[in-house]
Amino acid sequence: MSEDSADNSDIAHSGQDKALARVAGWLKDSRCAVLTGAGISKESGIPTFRDRDKMTGLWEKYDPSELATPGGFTRNPALVWQWYDYRRKLVAAARPNAGHLALVELEKYCRRLSVITQNVDRLHLQAGTEKLLELHGNILTFRCFNRGHQAEDVPMGLSEPPACHHDNCRSLLRPNVVWFGESLPPDILSHAAREAASCEVFLVIGTSGLVQPAASLPFTAARAGAKLVEINPDETPLTEQVDVFLKGTAGKILPALIAQLKTI
Ligand code: OAD
Repeated sequence: MSEDSADNSDIAHSGQDKALARVAGWLKDSRCAVLTGAGISKESGIPTFRDRDKMTGLWEKYDPSELATPGGFTRNPALVWQWYDYRRKLVAAARPNAGHLALVELEKYCRRLSVITQNVDRLHLQAGTEKLLELHGNILTFRCFNRGHQAEDVPMGLSEPPACHHDNCRSLLRPNVVWFGESLPPDILSHAAREAASCEVFLVIGTSGLVQPAASLPFTAARAGAKLVEINPDETPLTEQVDVFLKGTAGKILPALIAQLKTI
């Protein structure tokens, strides 16, 4: 590394410190809403959807629309069941990371904090987040495909979906997630939109911002006058719209923000 590049990296670090201090100032005693995506759980060992190199090969081998759509489930329920069973095992073994834990700590510094997530892993709940809005459901509970009866105690490791035990219902069980082509739970979506429209700071963490309607929430917040802050190691389509982009992983940047808040 040349001397010039060492200087530049110092400048980059002091720039990041200033940006962290600015964001911490906005967050202190604010009404804050947070939108998280798969990136925040990556440091817990759960693969993201669009980091192909980190996938186990399923995205390479199968069309995602065959794994996460009602049509895919109807055509090949065993394949879809096995894919979710694989992911459920990963989630069951995972623990919240420093990013999830820092968001719980952030509650102490904000006047109000709500977390809206696209993740189905429930790691925010495990970390202790109080107000969680799960836009895409969760991977740990089940309901039947035809009539939505909830199912308890579904074992892991089955090679195909079991049938619903409800009286006279022979429908197959499916995970309680939202698939492509399905509507998000309307009450949760409208609650999330209200949180976005009424917050002063909107944090967007670890999402590629490509999946609607979650991807529109930052714009709802910005239109209502909120500061937009993005945390991601890579730029996304949202990056050029935000007030501050904090480049880095959630597990590093969020604890650094808490450290800044402690100094105010
Ligand atoms: P994606 O997999 O599309 O995007 C993950 C984002 O996290 C990318 O922008 C990465 O750069 C970023 N990232 C990676 N590591 C990170 C880290 N350690 N800290 C912070 N960010 C990191 O995930 P989502 O945007 O959540 O929907 O995907 C949205 C929806 O698409 C998912 O809920 C799922 C998927 O298909 C359904 O299954 C319906």
